[in-house]
Amino acid sequence: MVCLSAHHRPSCRLLILFCLLHPGASDQPYPTLNTPGEEASSIQGVRGKSVDLECRTGAAPVAVLWSFAPLGSLVLRPVAVTNGVSSKVESWALALGVVSLRNSTLVIEELRESACGHFLCQTLLMSGGQVHTTYSYLTLTVLVPVSKPRVQLNDLSPVEGVSVVATCAVREGTEPLAFSWHHHTPQGPGEVLVGLSQPRLQLDPVNRTHLGWYMCSVGNAVNELKSDGAFLDVVYGPDKPVITVEPLGLSEDGIWASEKEEVTLSCLAASNPPSHYVWFRDNSQIHTGPTYIIASASRTHTGLYTCLAHNRHLDTHTQTTVQLTIYYPPEGQPSCAVLPTLEGVTLLCAWPGGFPNAQLHWEGPQGIGPSASSNVTWSYTVTGLPNGSVFTCMGQHPTLAIPIFCRVTLWEPSGSPTCWTTATVGDQFIMLSCEWPGGEPPAMLSWLDRQQQSLGDLSPSQAVYLLQAQSELAGREFTCQGSHPLKAPGSHCQLRLEVPQLTVTEPRVSVLEGEEAWLGCALQRGTPPAQLLWLGPQQQQLEGSTFGFTLHPEGTHLRLQVRDADPAHHRGTYQCVARNALGNSSQSVLLEILSKCKGCVCSRGYPAPPNVTISRLTYRRQRREVQLQWAIYGPGNLTGFLVQQRASVPSSEDGAWEVAASDIEPESRDRHLGGLDPAVLYAFRILAMNHHTAGHPSEVKTPVDPAFSAYPAVLGAAGTGAVVALATSLLVFQYAARHPHTFPCTETASITSSPDPIQESIDAPVNVTITVTATP
Ligand SMILES: *[C@@H]1O[C@H](CO)[C@@H](O)[C@H](O)[C@H]1NC(C)=O
Ligand SMILES: *[C@@H]1O[C@H](CO)[C@@H](O)[C@H](O)[C@H]1NC(C)=O
Ligand SMILES: *[C@@H]1O[C@H](CO)[C@@H](O)[C@H](O)[C@H]1NC(C)=O
Ligand SMILES: *[C@@H]1O[C@H](CO)[C@@H](O)[C@H](O)[C@H]1NC(C)=O
Ligand SMILES: *[C@@H]1O[C@H](CO)[C@@H](O)[C@H](O)[C@H]1NC(C)=O
Ligand SMILES: *[C@@H]1O[C@H](CO)[C@@H](O)[C@H](O)[C@H]1NC(C)=O
Ligand SMILES: *[C@@H]1O[C@H](CO)[C@@H](O)[C@H](O)[C@H]1NC(C)=O
Repeated sequence: MVCLSAHHRPSCRLLILFCLLHPGASDQPYPTLNTPGEEASSIQGVRGKSVDLECRTGAAPVAVLWSFAPLGSLVLRPVAVTNGVSSKVESWALALGVVSLRNSTLVIEELRESACGHFLCQTLLMSGGQVHTTYSYLTLTVLVPVSKPRVQLNDLSPVEGVSVVATCAVREGTEPLAFSWHHHTPQGPGEVLVGLSQPRLQLDPVNRTHLGWYMCSVGNAVNELKSDGAFLDVVYGPDKPVITVEPLGLSEDGIWASEKEEVTLSCLAASNPPSHYVWFRDNSQIHTGPTYIIASASRTHTGLYTCLAHNRHLDTHTQTTVQLTIYYPPEGQPSCAVLPTLEGVTLLCAWPGGFPNAQLHWEGPQGIGPSASSNVTWSYTVTGLPNGSVFTCMGQHPTLAIPIFCRVTLWEPSGSPTCWTTATVGDQFIMLSCEWPGGEPPAMLSWLDRQQQSLGDLSPSQAVYLLQAQSELAGREFTCQGSHPLKAPGSHCQLRLEVPQLTVTEPRVSVLEGEEAWLGCALQRGTPPAQLLWLGPQQQQLEGSTFGFTLHPEGTHLRLQVRDADPAHHRGTYQCVARNALGNSSQSVLLEILSKCKGCVCSRGYPAPPNVTISRLTYRRQRREVQLQWAIYGPGNLTGFLVQQRASVPSSEDGAWEVAASDIEPESRDRHLGGLDPAVLYAFRILAMNHHTAGHPSEVKTPVDPAFSAYPAVLGAAGTGAVVALATSLLVFQYAARHPHTFPCTETASITSSPDPIQESIDAPVNVTITVTATP
């Protein structure tokens, strides 16, 4: 009660203070918190930090007393007191922290959790000589910061599939606490938020994606802290291995690689801990390790390859098997060919071999053709393709970077078919041949008969048809029809079977006995091969070996030479025969052999014809022709004249006498002889004939050029000279004419005729002839 009376007297001030500071010294109970009328205000402090508890006072108080009651207790204990000058802090207040007073404010540093509770601030005020007391309550809450959390895993190395629980453990911290979970995979990009608010993280079932570090964060009103990572090592695998091949080649039933290449087989099976690998080839072990390398692949490396993966931790196995096939291309290159067909062409392309077979396709000037493996055929209808059109066959194979190709170029054959015939087996058969070379594909040929019916099959470039030789075939026509895809319409040749025809040079040949005769014959037309031959007067075939005969074949000519002509053996009708497989034709030539008189005796009983003399022999028409004039003298009958000529070579050997003209009328005394070679000097002679009996040949003469300048003078002189000669010889001649059988062969019986002096111009011949006429 002493303390309570203190406000009765100012001198009681220290006493009151003492009372206040030492309440235990008083018997009075210390005031409790259930004092009505005052509202407590709340304040928060953090453990270890400092907090200021301000006392709401009015004017400067005389004394301030702070008391404390822990939470749940109503008993207040003094903490500190001040009178404005000095202050006192109770020693037990260390349990609240480091307590001090700053004027009336209670300062608690290094705040302790036990400072949690109610604080009462009592003040003494002096006003108007009166002592007043005030009270104010404060409720202090002490917040505890969270400690660093720690992650706990119930299983550090779980096998995939089990349930795993992660717990976030925190030692202290004022509630409420906020949790968050983070996950960081070894390969992952960073931390990923995986859970909120719960101190437990359940992974049920755990799988490989859960592997990694787990961190939790815990926070409250004061702070937030994060744990270190806890590693969850999920054990799994091996999964089924995946086999890859380098370089990569995938086929329908596995993988492939090129021959001679380096091939790397790699195996990968997801597993923790990592797999161990073993390779098998067709069930025998060949390698351990994830990659198996074939340095140079060959066909024998084809087979089944198995990769076995082993997880040693779990002792589990998985395996995968692949078929490895070694590919190799066909040898060489594709080969192209073209065959003609009725509508166009068939293009063939083949490239056999290889594994797998090469893929082939055709490309033409108008686009892509068919494709196939190993062998591709394109039936192509050709319309309006130009000469030289190219078709390409492309061959592709997986082992080849670029295709290999072959080509065909279509060529149109030039020209048209040519037809000919040959005879075979002794002319028993006639072979019709037809040819049209060149061209790609070759032109197709076939023989057709008159009714355009095909004879035999179509054949390329050449067509042959065999006919049995028979005369009915003569006059028949055959056509060889040629066709080529690039040439529309086609082309043809034709031939007609014919018996050969011939001509003879002269139908009648006269030679003098002992001389040689030439019989000429030439083939005109008809189906080859044709043959010429000569038959003698007895219808016997004349061979080169027949005595006295020589055959001179020259191209289509066949000349028969009769040497040393003998009337007994050689006279008669000769036949020149042209023969082929179809038949023959012939023409005859009459060979006359003129007997010669030996002395006055002439053969065959005819009297000798008169002697003849050449009266004139001059060139005409640039020496291509001569004019011959002659005269007869001496006795004798005559039926005609024979003129002979020969090339007059100035050497010892003259050419043989040939008949220049034989059909001269007995009245004739003048003859133009043509067909001469101006470069050759000819000699001529003339003989009188009497029924195949030749008289003595005249003298031999060579022609001279006409000298027309002397013409008028010579004409005058000729008149007199000729008359004199005529007078003397006329008698002899007349006698001989009257007695043709008795008249002796005498040299004197002659009619002399001087060389004809009459000349003429080449361009305007003057026909002046002195003619001796024998009249009986
Ligand atoms: C204490 O009070 C005195 C007088 O009222 C004042 O001057 C002083 O600044 C105060 N001290 C503190 C720390 O407030
Ligand atoms: C692993 O588990 C998570 C969640 O539990 C799931 O989303 C994911 O698909 C699972 N992954 C595998 C590979 O099973
Ligand atoms: C091409 O193939 C055909 C059938 O498709 C076959 O008859 C022919 O013999 C083959 N030719 C070659 C050269 O392989
Ligand atoms: C087609 O061309 C070839 C080669 O240039 C040539 O030889 C042939 O004569 C030509 N054919 C025709 C019908 O022009
Ligand atoms: C000429 O043909 C006929 C029948 O046509 C034949 O009798 C004769 O022997 C043939 N002559 C020759 C030389 O072949
Ligand atoms: C000459 O021939 C003719 C006709 O053949 C004949 O009439 C005449 O008697 C013959 N003269 C002499 C001399 O032989
Ligand atoms: C005819 O000529 C020959 C030879 O020159 C001669 O031997 C014969 O006597 C002549 N005859 C006459 C009748 O002159």
